[in-house]
Order: sequence, then structure tokens, then C-alpha cells
Amino acid sequence: MRRNKITIIGAGNVGATAAHWAAARGLGDVLLLDVVEGVPQGKALDLSQAGPVDGFNNRVVGSNDFADSADSDVVIITAGLARKPGMSRDDLLAKNVAIVKSCAEQAAKYSPNSIMIVVTNPIDAMVYTAFKVSGFPKQRVIGMAGVLDSARYRTFLAQALNVAPRDVSAMVMGIHGDNMLPLVRLANVSGVPVTDLLSAEELAAIVKRTQHGGAEIVNHLKTGSAFYTPGLAAVEMAEAVLTDSKRVLPCAAYVEGEFGFSGCFLGVPVVLGNNGVERIIEFKLTAEEKAAMAESETAVHKQMAATGL
Ligand code: 2OP
Repeated sequence: MRRNKITIIGAGNVGATAAHWAAARGLGDVLLLDVVEGVPQGKALDLSQAGPVDGFNNRVVGSNDFADSADSDVVIITAGLARKPGMSRDDLLAKNVAIVKSCAEQAAKYSPNSIMIVVTNPIDAMVYTAFKVSGFPKQRVIGMAGVLDSARYRTFLAQALNVAPRDVSAMVMGIHGDNMLPLVRLANVSGVPVTDLLSAEELAAIVKRTQHGGAEIVNHLKTGSAFYTPGLAAVEMAEAVLTDSKRVLPCAAYVEGEFGFSGCFLGVPVVLGNNGVERIIEFKLTAEEKAAMAESETAVHKQMAATGL
């Protein structure tokens, strides 16, 4: 039985970090791909040498040749430009759509049966781009955003309550942008609603900080955006696919009527398994939540139109 093969396209901060988390979790052999000569090779060689120390024994290889990615089980697309201070994710669209188009075409050519996880921003438009050019069924093209945004939301709630982040369950839905929807109503600490533990003002501040969580890091870093948790979030999704774990994770999935929305990728709770998005878990939204999701849908459709696809 052969090992899983994970190809990560883009050996920048996010891609290299995803490779690190994938190797450390023993997900399978990792191929780190980039157009820049030497970068994937050097980072992969460095990471592979952590094997004896960490204990993982998966192969980690860098390459500039897409043919080396053939027959990957999962392809994670991180290639593209990252934000700088003052930029919105939408500002990246024009440049990144061409990059993601090329990556998705090549990935589909060399790994026609793979599951594609897209991280490049603006993610909701980029995962749509990958979906359109790959010709894959909607189940096998998934956007990484909700796991990252929900991780931020859970972290901020845990800090406010001085509890272990792992015991905070909270979900962010909708677009990966300022209109994202951190669900307050469903957030809880080991089942105890956060609305019983924090004031409306405290919760509003945490929601706002979550919605701008990416920009907060960009403003600190000045030269780029977050990568530790984005890289791990993509690997968390890949692990659910590769282990057929049926994890329920918030991901950008193609909706066709779910929650009353259609024809676009939106952050919704999905069951992840070997076939990618096995199903979308629908539930009743309040009128306020529905309106917030409608704002997301409108913004996503605008981004999709800008891709020209
Ligand atoms: C973020 O929210 C880079 O979009 C990513 O940090």
C-alpha cells in the first residue's frame, strides 16, 4: 500500500508551513512545488532533515517540475501574492487568478483524481477559479478559510474567558473577508454558551477582531500575511480527506441551494472524507445570520465576476 502523496503548490510562507505541518503529522510524502528555482528544493531539504529529530519518516521533496506532482491524493494551492498593509484580499484578485488558473490546470492534468484545497486569496474567488478550470466535481474542490477564521475566533474567546482554546467550539461562516460571519449564538465552552459567559459588548469586540484577524497580522508583519495557522488549517482539511475521518469543518464549498444560496463557494460546515466534501451540514439560521450570509454571497458573486470565468 503506497503512502499518501500531498503536493503543495507554492513554497512561500504558507506553503512551506503547510509542508512542515503535513510532515510533522505524518500525513504522507510531501512534494513542495514552486516556479522559483531552488526555493522548494532548499526548504524541502531543510524540512526533511527534521525527520530524525521529530520522528516523521515521510519523504519531503522540492521541485520546479509539475510532472513530479503526478498522482497526488491531495493538492494544496497556496501560490500567489500575499497582502501588504492597506490592501484588501480583493486587491490580489487580478494577479492571483492567473496564477491559480495555471496551478489548477496543471494539478488536474497530473492528478486528475485528487482533492484540491485552495488557500490563495481572495479565497472564495480562487477556489471558484480552480473549480472552473479543473473540471473537477464540486466535492473535490474546497477552499480553506473557515478553519482559519474559526481558529482565530476560538482563540479570542478562549483568551477572554481564560480557558483552553481546545474547549472552545465556535464557527465562522460566509466569505473570507470583513463580512465573514462568526456565529455567536452557537459558540460554546464545553457546551456552555458563550452568551452566558461574556457580555454583548465583549462578544461584539471579539467578532470584529475575528473579522479583521488577517489584517491585524498583516499590519504587524508589514511584508506579508499570516502563515502558521493558514498552513495548518489547510493540513487539517487534508488530514480529514486522507484519513476519511468525516470531520465537520467550516470550508468554502460550492453551494447549490444550501442555506438558500446557489452557484458560488461559501464558508459552510461540511463533512470531509476521502471524496472531499461528502455533504454540507445545513441548519436553521436566524434572520440576522441569513442576512449576513446574503451579504457574503453578494460579495462572493462580485469577486467571481471579476475572475472573468
Ligand atoms: C488571513 O486571513 C492570509 O487570508 C489569510 O490571514
